[in-house]
Amino acid sequence: MSFLSASLDRVKPSATIAVTDKARELKAAGRNVIGLGSGEPDFDTPANIKLAAIHAIEAGKTKYTAVDGIPELKQAIIDKFQRENGLTYKPNQIIVGTGGKQVLYNALMATINPGDEVIIPAPYWVSYPEMVALAGGESVPVVCPAESGFKLQPAALEAAITPKTKWIILNSPSNPTGAAYTREELKALTDVLLKHPHVWVMTDDMYEHLVYDDFDFTTPAQIEPLLFDRTLTVNGVSKSYCMTGWRIGYAGGPAELIKAMATIQSQSTSNPSSIAQWAAVEALNGPQEFIAAHNKVFKERRDLVVSMLNQATGIDCPRPEGAFYVYPSCAGTIGKTAPSGKTIETDQDFVTELLEAEGVAVVQGSAFGLGPAFRISYATKTSDLEDACKRIQRFCGNLR
Ligand SMILES: Cc1ncc(COP(=O)(O)O)c(C=O)c1O
Repeated sequence: MSFLSASLDRVKPSATIAVTDKARELKAAGRNVIGLGSGEPDFDTPANIKLAAIHAIEAGKTKYTAVDGIPELKQAIIDKFQRENGLTYKPNQIIVGTGGKQVLYNALMATINPGDEVIIPAPYWVSYPEMVALAGGESVPVVCPAESGFKLQPAALEAAITPKTKWIILNSPSNPTGAAYTREELKALTDVLLKHPHVWVMTDDMYEHLVYDDFDFTTPAQIEPLLFDRTLTVNGVSKSYCMTGWRIGYAGGPAELIKAMATIQSQSTSNPSSIAQWAAVEALNGPQEFIAAHNKVFKERRDLVVSMLNQATGIDCPRPEGAFYVYPSCAGTIGKTAPSGKTIETDQDFVTELLEAEGVAVVQGSAFGLGPAFRISYATKTSDLEDACKRIQRFCGNLR
């Protein structure tokens, strides 16, 4: 019998981290590799935010804090939700965690009983089904193909709801597709949810600020105030503020749920880093102008990548509304033969052969629940992106 817990049988290691590790390994071995697997901005954390952390260290703010976050950060989060989303929370309706990931994990651990179902539109962020499995629940993936803009349709939502449904997880803009719901699209979903009072909404708004072409971001509790009492609105500073390594995420939701999440956190990690919390106060309260400057670059990169990928034989790349990912189909390459002599039968084969032949690391769509496709993160230097897209064009052109 294994020494390891049986719960490990229920989870897979992260496919996105695996690709990043593989690319790092090849690079260390001297290969010229361009990694497009990692989901983090290439921009540095803004200087004012770094300075706030340095000041916190110098002022001795280096001790345990309240498990669910310092009052100053909770207030900054309350102000953010009010200012940007029209949502009104009290301090006991806010929790701060070690990254958005921990906040989502706490919420599932605090609510899932064996057999509870969680609806997850696919393609999905790799961690949702794994977290649901760890919590002992059942994920119910609902495939949302490219033809529907990778977005959940109201009828498909209605059909997926059962008496056992506990949560639906929405993520807009999405990792891995970049798709974002318009106000009308979201309203059509919240209308369905109004008919099913036992279903709660976990909305992962991590990429809120990363939208292009004047896209108007909205979040479910804002669109439908009647859902406020059963919605957990999750957000964080990792992506918009280029703070992935600082590990600060947060959520607003009903006090009873937030308290339960804090109980889980109190017996695992306790408070998130005191220093990172002070940096997050500055991120949320300080100047926001750099976000628009970053978005200008991200939009140019998105347009470049979409255009270049659509010139590759066998690739079809939709233009997403936000985040820093594109999710092209590689269906047109299936059945062809790679330079190594191997036939491409799946998107896993496509990404393996692409890495082997051209040194470009991307993540296979099957890891996100919809293939044959792959995810490219364009949060990478523009010159590298251009080079990578040329390599993908050459790879696809060389398939026989
Ligand atoms: C959709 C989505 N949610 C949550 C997270 C987790 O963010 P954090 O780094 O704050 O834990 C990520 C990070 O990749 C993400 O893509």
